[in-house]
Amino acid sequence: MSEKITFILDGNTIQGEPGQTILKAADAAGRYIPRLCSHKDLVPHGSCRVCTVLVNGRPQAACTQPAAEGIVVESGSPKVQKLRTSIIEMLFVEGNHFCMFCEKSGNCELQALAYRFGITAPRYPYQFPYRDVDASHPDIFLDRNRCVLCGRCVRASRDVDGKNVFQFVGRGRDKRIAVDARAGLGETNAAVTDKAIEVCPVGAILRKRVGYAVPVGKRQYDHEAIGTEIEKAAPAR
Ligand code: FES
Repeated sequence: MSEKITFILDGNTIQGEPGQTILKAADAAGRYIPRLCSHKDLVPHGSCRVCTVLVNGRPQAACTQPAAEGIVVESGSPKVQKLRTSIIEMLFVEGNHFCMFCEKSGNCELQALAYRFGITAPRYPYQFPYRDVDASHPDIFLDRNRCVLCGRCVRASRDVDGKNVFQFVGRGRDKRIAVDARAGLGETNAAVTDKAIEVCPVGAILRKRVGYAVPVGKRQYDHEAIGTEIEKAAPAR
């Protein structure tokens, strides 16, 4: 009996390893499923739902749903793309994302997803929430306006850095990233070299004094769509 798991993704036969998520199996086959909270070095969180696929017709998060023998997964259909487009648009209106003034522009995964999905302006009303910034750390800047609550910093700080600098507080519209000190990030043991600082997909956590070291126009997603690296690494079909 084969140890591999075989399933169908958008009409293509995919072989995955037992225990692999749909997203990981798709990656290994060179099929990009859009994602935001998922990161290759972190445990899956399943919170943003950008990776939503239909599994035997039911919506599931591909980053947490295990691949299983014989399942039929829909990812690239107009129905799923429409769903994802709405999720990405909602992420934009829930925060304050002023891309033209953001140091992360061109390297931002949320912006890159919008470009990949052809989103020029969200169809939903902007919420313009009040969010504060924390510049108290000598080397790190935390701007909650741009935070998408993906939890990458929370997982990286806890699981990789072993520090628990970041955590979620509040619920619903009031949910936000908090730090492990009353006075702000500057009072924590966060270091600029921490994994938690590296993995932010947007411009919410930035390193100070290195802004624009790579000019806008020469950044990762200025040249190729997000997901291209996975598609390019596809094994020969
Ligand atoms: Fe799967 Fe965020 S990438 S839920």
